[in-house]
Amino acid sequence: MQILGIDIGGTGIKGALVEPDTGSLLAERYRLPTPEGAKPAPIAEVVKRIALQFDWHAPIGCGFPAVIRNGVAESAANINQKWIGTNVSQLFSEATGCPVYVVNDADAAGLAEVNFGAGKGVYGVVMMITIGTGLGSALFIDGKLVPNTELGHIEVECDEAESIASDVVRKQQNLSWKKWAKRLDKYLCTLENLFSPDLMILGGGAIKKQDQFIPLLTLHTKVIPAELGNDAGIVGAALAAFRALG
Ligand code: BGC
Repeated sequence: MQILGIDIGGTGIKGALVEPDTGSLLAERYRLPTPEGAKPAPIAEVVKRIALQFDWHAPIGCGFPAVIRNGVAESAANINQKWIGTNVSQLFSEATGCPVYVVNDADAAGLAEVNFGAGKGVYGVVMMITIGTGLGSALFIDGKLVPNTELGHIEVECDEAESIASDVVRKQQNLSWKKWAKRLDKYLCTLENLFSPDLMILGGGAIKKQDQFIPLLTLHTKVIPAELGNDAGIVGAALAAFRALG
């Protein structure tokens, strides 16, 4: 059994074939840049190109950076506002000719980690935060996902967390790792106070540089990097599709 997993991000759209039983990638992943403006039609075109690249005619799982309910996008923090109310699942199914299951991108990454990676077999409250263009969140209780938590938008000292502590903000404001880690730490400590998680998993693009900031964090909660690294979103999207579409 194979599923094509696709992860739609702020700078790149990546796809790979995934074995949903084991979470392994079966072929080299294929990445195309996110089209400028991140509007629905150009993104659907990229999704179609990725499906064509793999000559794919079977179920696709897609991680998307918005609140997703029943395939429909209900928010658009880092993408074009035109997505709000769009049936993403239908749009991508029409573009590719394949059944497409869509899930929030951070929920997808969390699903991968909880099933195959850093959170495997961990009971209690597990929280995954993805650090990339935005701050994504996935919350699990005894391995079960509470979808669409959107914790990147909570306020930390009067600022929206995502607008001060994402990886893109670090780059745009040319922040040192130390300065940025301090902001991230405040955010993660706020989450710790609110949710008392048993485990916090950090992922997303920034995790490639984990040594630069994880040692600087001061939370009491155990904090570990995503084991599947930046592939977690692809793997989790495929797993979600496998479970939903069979
Ligand atoms: C969005 C989330 C998404 C996160 C990471 C946020 O801006 O609101 O839905 O999971 O970015 O991409």
